[in-house]
Amino acid sequence: MNKKEFWDIFINKLEGYIEESQKGDVPVVNYIPGKHFEEEVELAIKDEGISYRELLDEVDKYLKYSVRTMHPHFNNQLNAGYNFPALVGEITSYVTNTSMATYEIAPMATMIERKLVEKLNSIIGFRNGEGIMVTGGSNANMLAIHCARSRKFPDTKELGNQGHHFAVFVSNNAHYSFKKAVNVLGIGSSNLIAVETDHNGKMIPASLEEKIIEAKKEQKIPLIVASTAGTTVLGSFDPIDEIDKVAKKYDIWHHVDGAWGAPALLTPELKKLMKGVESVDSFTWDAHKLMGTGLITSFFLTSRKNTLFQSNSGGGKKYLFHEYENADYDTGHMSLQCGRKVDALKLWFAWLHIGNDGFAKFLNDQLDKARYFANKIKEHPRFKLITEPEYLNVCFQVIPNEDVDINKFNLDLRFRVVKSGKFLVNFSSFADGTIFFRHIFANNHTTQKDLDFYLEQLLEFADN
Ligand SMILES: Cc1ncc(COP(=O)(O)O)c(C=O)c1O
Repeated sequence: MNKKEFWDIFINKLEGYIEESQKGDVPVVNYIPGKHFEEEVELAIKDEGISYRELLDEVDKYLKYSVRTMHPHFNNQLNAGYNFPALVGEITSYVTNTSMATYEIAPMATMIERKLVEKLNSIIGFRNGEGIMVTGGSNANMLAIHCARSRKFPDTKELGNQGHHFAVFVSNNAHYSFKKAVNVLGIGSSNLIAVETDHNGKMIPASLEEKIIEAKKEQKIPLIVASTAGTTVLGSFDPIDEIDKVAKKYDIWHHVDGAWGAPALLTPELKKLMKGVESVDSFTWDAHKLMGTGLITSFFLTSRKNTLFQSNSGGGKKYLFHEYENADYDTGHMSLQCGRKVDALKLWFAWLHIGNDGFAKFLNDQLDKARYFANKIKEHPRFKLITEPEYLNVCFQVIPNEDVDINKFNLDLRFRVVKSGKFLVNFSSFADGTIFFRHIFANNHTTQKDLDFYLEQLLEFADN
């Protein structure tokens, strides 16, 4: 088999995979426990390379044992599959395979990224902002803390933390990436202060103020508060405008982690959940989650111009960042990466093709499905809704028929369902030990019929 023959079969195979996955007539995963994986699937690199025919077998093997994230029964993650123009963008980006470091090696990609940053900033309401694409929402959250520190204490760039005892505030429902970030930045996880949330999972501004005052008493320097727009588990939106008042009162950087919830800004109904967002200092936006552009399509955006250069520049002048007519367009010094993949093209093609209206419609459709599902849960005596969803996370428990521990029951049930290969849906828990299913509405292939079938099947699993 020559390369051309390989390629034709390969493309056909991928098309077939996408089609059958989206239809959902196949298992969402062929589940094998990790400890038995290599007994079943050979994974070895040999001295002699393999032929194109054998490479096709390897492609088959990979597809067979991978989770089909565009399957209608995949509602596990905050992302699911990808839209078609994004796939076109990803392939085109890979085919050209340049790096975003300078305008010279990535002229079109640089301009596209600039346009996207401009667009996202204008949606948020950042009038004189800037931004950069990063390796994920986690990285954007880390950059927020780093930029906050760098703006307030510019000499940390050269001298490090110098014994400053910084404090970072997030809600107790915030994403775990903040814990990683304070570790990496030398701030320390004990200085990541968790602010209480209300029964809807939203940060309580008065509690934030108390925590700030406490930290100051302990000689800590309150550096930044990060609100979450769309928490990972419950999909809650912190009251950004009220938190902003506290942040401004104590002169603290205010970041919004919109990794999951940012697209809410694209519809008038959901936009209300982010009142006051235009006044904050920075924002995390993951298009690969709800906007379906495939991993990774993440932005760190800030309303404060020149922050990124001040915080991230350093070195590279001898061979990369030359003084030339396009130097102002080089993005490399604004980034923490040197080589940087062109992630912008996926979102660019997707937005051009789908349009603002298309994204708003997609969001409204997902919202309708989430509400339909939540209502079904509420109406059915065998299900219990954990909180009233305001976004696209529906958390619930299945009520057992017998007198058994409901949390253990839900935990076991979830694993049995996943191992069956029929559905892939995550679970989560509260500090009090409550364990529940977390159903995410990021998948446009999931229909109301799938949701009805899912609930039926859950009861079937539960009672057998
Ligand atoms: C609220 C929130 N922030 C940040 C992240 C991290 O994003 P990423 O997976 O792109 O690093 C997640 C991931 O689920 C999230 O839910």
